[in-house]
Amino acid sequence: MNAMEAILTRRSTRNYKPDLVEEEKIEQILDAAIQAPSGGNNQTNHFLVIRNQDVLRKLALMAEKAFSAMEISEDTYASLKHSINLSKRGGYVFYYNAPVLIVVANQRDYGNNIADCACAIENMMIAANALDLGSCWINQLKWLNEEPEIVDYLHELGMEKDERVYGAVIIGYPASDTGLPNRKLMPQKGNKVTYID
Ligand SMILES: Cc1cc2nc3c(=O)[nH]c(=O)nc-3n(C[C@H](O)[C@H](O)[C@H](O)COP(=O)(O)O)c2cc1C
Repeated sequence: MNAMEAILTRRSTRNYKPDLVEEEKIEQILDAAIQAPSGGNNQTNHFLVIRNQDVLRKLALMAEKAFSAMEISEDTYASLKHSINLSKRGGYVFYYNAPVLIVVANQRDYGNNIADCACAIENMMIAANALDLGSCWINQLKWLNEEPEIVDYLHELGMEKDERVYGAVIIGYPASDTGLPNRKLMPQKGNKVTYID
């Protein structure tokens, strides 16, 4: 698969087989993340590769508890509102039972933390597609950067004191009929292009 194909056919996967992802493929995906551009070439992304299912289940429960204690206001962003609503009424989903969650932390006081994280996550998702793996950005932990219990637990897992989470990605083999990611080309309804020739 060439680069354009891998980019254009990347779609989010939200249903996974429990199968582990081969070490070699995880390493290739991390290589793609580490080679991503960063503001000022800072290279301060910190990738926490979580494959321990007990840890994933604990994070999911902690996230659900934190969201269920949040109130919704008129300004609450739609996706955050969705997580709060589901956590209160049941049916909250965090990592879709994927075998791997790669959390991307970065320095809290660094102005390009989100941008650098986004470059790395997009590289990982494209690489995953090229390797016949599914992936999906998981933003839940970013909403919970001010929740002491969750931040403390992430510190226990290896996140540095001055770091916070700016995104995460799940990776695994899709539980689809073909076992391959859905690579449907989707007509895109948004985004705007202005040519100034
Ligand atoms: C910043 C960002 C945050 C996202 N957070 C989540 C999330 O928490 N859970 C989820 O299921 N999908 C999440 N997504 C995936 C989007 O819903 C998805 O990319 C979008 O619907 C387009 O579908 P596609 O990825 O299949 O092209 C996120 C995507 C981005 C870029």
